Amino acid sequence: MDVIKLEGVEKIYRTKEIETVALENVNLTVEEGEFVSVMGPSGCGKSTLLNLIGLLDNPTKGTVDLLGSSTAGMKDSGMSEFRNRNIGFVFQSFHLIPSLNVADNVALPLIYRAGVSAAECDRRVREVLERLGMSHRMKHFPSQISGGQCQRVAIARAIVGDPRIILADEPTGNLDSRMGAEVMALLHELNRADGRTIVMVTHNEEQASKTDRVIHFLDGRQII
Ligand SMILES: Nc1ncnc2c1ncn2[C@@H]1O[C@H](COP(=O)(O)OP(=O)(O)OP(=O)(O)O)[C@@H](O)[C@H]1O
Ligand SMILES: [Mg+2]
Repeated sequence: MDVIKLEGVEKIYRTKEIETVALENVNLTVEEGEFVSVMGPSGCGKSTLLNLIGLLDNPTKGTVDLLGSSTAGMKDSGMSEFRNRNIGFVFQSFHLIPSLNVADNVALPLIYRAGVSAAECDRRVREVLERLGMSHRMKHFPSQISGGQCQRVAIARAIVGDPRIILADEPTGNLDSRMGAEVMALLHELNRADGRTIVMVTHNEEQASKTDRVIHFLDGRQII
């Protein structure tokens, strides 16, 4: 099954003075269980692409189908719910909430989901933090743990709701090479062991070469 299918996708950002064509006629399919890297120079549209796949933004033209469903007619609330259930995000700068401890950061996707009891939420948070080797830091705040640990917590938050799709935007961009390698090993495990589909933006050739497929962008167009 195509987990992600983009057809004729265009994204234009319009402000009063300028129009920026961020993506032009993008056609892309990603199959269930694939791990795909996206590469290209700064400003070529990589984050825009992930935002569209992740339903954080709408295309100006074209269609985005996810898990066999069209997202075109979805209302904002429908998009949020779909995103909450099916998509986990991992960002370069972690995007943890500084005022919440590790456990509460990880719990966020479940708190926004209807029908998850407090006990169930607690159990899943513990389980995922244990898996990622962070259960000993549950009560710490983001400022009290290392960058690599922050990214592991962010990955825990991304998978706590058991999404089929993980979108990672330069997930090792703020980490040293050792921490970066750990995070990459984790993403590969989430792909292989759990069969999650991953789309990852990276500037790192070596990381990209270890994924199933690399797609290259230049000036908003897919070139390979
Ligand atoms: N909210 C926005 N409003 C206007 N223009 C934007 C907006 N977001 C991105 N752009 C423009 O769209 C283009 C693509 O941006 P995007 O962030 O997708 O690039 P990128 O490939 O992720 O770059 P980087 O490697 O630096 O993260 C750029 O020219 C950028 O300036
Ligand atoms: Mg970017």
